[in-house]
Parts: sequence; C-alpha cells; structure tokens
Amino acid sequence: MNAVLGVGGGIAAYKSAELARALMERGIRVQVVLTSAAAQFITPLTFAALTGRKVITDLFSNSSSEETLSSAIEHIAVAQENDALVIAPATADLLARLAHGHANDFLTTTYLAFTGPVFLAPAMNTNMWLHPATQENVSILKKRGHVIIEPEEGMLACGITGPGRLADPQGIAEIVAGFSSLGKDLEGETILITAGPTQEPLDPVRYISNRSSGKMGYALAEAAVHRGANVILISGPVQLPEPRGVSVIQVHTAVEMRDAVMQHLAEASIVVKAAAVADYHLSRVPQHKVKKTATRMSLELDPTPDILAELGQKKADRLLIGFAAETENLTRSALSKLESKNCDMVVANLVGQDGTGFESDENEVVLVLRTGETIPLARAPKRDIAGRIFDQVIKLRLSLHAAR
Ligand code: PMT
Repeated sequence: MNAVLGVGGGIAAYKSAELARALMERGIRVQVVLTSAAAQFITPLTFAALTGRKVITDLFSNSSSEETLSSAIEHIAVAQENDALVIAPATADLLARLAHGHANDFLTTTYLAFTGPVFLAPAMNTNMWLHPATQENVSILKKRGHVIIEPEEGMLACGITGPGRLADPQGIAEIVAGFSSLGKDLEGETILITAGPTQEPLDPVRYISNRSSGKMGYALAEAAVHRGANVILISGPVQLPEPRGVSVIQVHTAVEMRDAVMQHLAEASIVVKAAAVADYHLSRVPQHKVKKTATRMSLELDPTPDILAELGQKKADRLLIGFAAETENLTRSALSKLESKNCDMVVANLVGQDGTGFESDENEVVLVLRTGETIPLARAPKRDIAGRIFDQVIKLRLSLHAAR
C-alpha cells in the first residue's frame, strides 16, 4: 500500500516523523508532503532520511519553467499513485481549507485530486478545536466520508489542558493499516447502488416523500469505490455531496429511478437497493396547483413500479441486495421480501427508534440471507455498516463461484 502523509504546520508536526516510521513498519510506502508552515517546525531532511524518498514541500517551489510545469502537475500523479491520504497534524487552518476546497498548495491540490480514503488527525489548542468554526469544518469533512482520528485530551504545548493533542502516532498507523488490509477486494465489480428518497408530485408545488437522507446509500457508494469497485449511484433528492470517484445519476420520482436502474442494469454485477422508494404516486399529476377548498380532500394513489421485484426477475448471475425498513417483525418481514423479490441478501433496518435508520449517522441492521441465516450488525457509523455489508457481499460472491 502507498500512502501520502501530509504534515500541517503545528507544534505536533514533530510527531509525524514517528507516524511516518509507524506506517512504514506496517508495510506502507510513505510519500511525505509538508505544507510551508510545517517546514517551519520540522525539516524535509528528517522525513527524507526516514522514508528514503524525496519530500514534497510546495506547489511551485522549483525555479525553471520546465520544473515549475512538472511540479504543477505532480500533485495529480501523487494523487493517482497512492491508496490513502493521511494528514497529521491537521491544523485548524488545514481543516478549513480542506472543508472548503481551497487549492493553494501541494497538499490541498493533492487532496482535491485524490479519490481514495482520507484520514485526518487534528491537533491544535483546545479552544481552537472546540470553536464552532472548526467543529463545522470537521462535520463537513466527516460527511464527505473522511475518517477523523479525534485528538486526545492532555496538557498542550500552550499550557492548557484539554482536547487537542495529536492522537498517538502508533494508533493512527494502526487505523490506516487496518483500513488497507481491506485492499481492493471489489476491483472488477460494477456496483449499482440506489440511495435517498423519491419525491412523488401531487401538483407542480407539492409532493409525497419520506425521511431518507441518502446517508446509508452514499456510505455504501464510498465504501465500494474505496474497495476498487466501479460505482453507479442512482440518487433521489438529498443534501449530500456527490461521493468522489462515483458516477452519480440524480432522479426525483420512483419512475425516473426505475428507468435509470434499468438503463444501467446491463453494466452491473452487483445491485444494492438502499433507496426508500415511494410505494404510491399520482399517476396523472395535475398541470396546475390544486386550489384549497373548505371541504375534505382525499387522494387516490396508484402503486409505483416495484424496482426490486423487477430486478429480481431480471437477476441473471448478478448479486441482488435489497433493504427493508420495518417497524415490527424485522427478520420475518425481511425474509419474506428476500424470497418474493428473489434477492441474495436483505439488509433489515428496524426504523422508528432514535439514532439509527432514517436520517441518522449510525445504523443497526440485521443481514438476512437466503439460507435463513441472520447476521446482526451492532449499532455503528453508516460507513462501518457499509463496510460490513460489502464483507458479506464478498462472501456471497465466493460461495456462488464455489457452487458453480
Ligand atoms: O437514507 P438514510 O436516511 O441513511 O436511511 C437509510 C434507510 C433506512 C432509508 C435505508 O437503510 C433503507 O432501509 N432503505 C430501504 C427503505 C425502504 O424503502 O424499505 P421498504 O421495506 O419499503 O422496501 C424494500 C426494498 O424494496 C428496498 O430495497 C427498496 O429500495 C425497494 N423498493 C421499494 C419500493 C419500490 N417501489 N421499489 C423498490 O425497489
């Protein structure tokens, strides 16, 4: 595995030398990139001696125009050649620049060009860490699917005691190495994922929808792309940034989602239906806004196309993973969906409880298999649940190959 180690300009920069060594001890080839502020705290020579490689210090640091040109495009090559980007210490300024897409030095341009997993280990003064501006930037970066390795509590260089100290370099290296052991086990697969709600218009200004935020489906898309898959994400309307390295197709209604899924089905070797598709819609939407009257109003709705059922009929040898959102009889209902829709696995969510299922950052699910076997996954961030779902998908793929 190859990793970029980006070092920000903070007092903890000296600890990134230990981190470089700890990553290398775990078999990771390290390319160090120092910001100009970091180079004030620790010299490039230290890292060059540790890693045996040239240390990159700035975007336009070379003098001749030919060298300037090669330096200007080097960040693209660095982004393409590496499997992980680790930034430690990630200072408040770096977090702000990453969150808002600035591209004013080698590290931030590399970040924008990089499509793999990003690990950020912040370190700074306690008040700077707890400041709403920093916390908002961290939340943006978390939503982008990056792994934030939280700073530890302790006595800081500024004399204050509180959170802000860089996490233990050995622990950071452990997290990065643990991630790399997943490897690119989905390489060669094209995975079609649906996410988010659908919106079914009632007239030009009103619609029926549901509480799906798309977080589960987007976490699945990010996990799949990090593990080497080619990912097509068909998304209902959500407030999430498009995951990097993923082809995203935006839709609104169940009919549009069905058409997009069927259009791309031939390319897919695995389909994951995480979207919360409306079951009913108005098949004839009035052209003009429906006027309010004093009398009671009722709606006559027609069923939407059942995309999962149609996928089950057209399954061929692709893997089909459905989701089920239930408020009771979780595994029984999921198993009956699995059988009636011809799925290989159903991910069952017990919805209607606080902190999991719709809208939340975490989920707690049961994987229901064709054999009737059930695998409960304890409450965890949706990113981790997505990883566990793909671990099971790989096992299903292997057992299907073995059975042929
Ligand atoms: O988006 P989040 O806020 O992160 O929340 C995640 C989630 C709870 C939405 C997600 O994890 C989930 O459970 N998705 C499925 C929700 C759902 O619609 O469940 P269902 O039991 O109604 O549908 C069963 C399956 O049939 C689903 O795979 C669904 O995509 C599919 N379906 C449903 C109706 C329809 N017309 N066509 C379909 O393909």
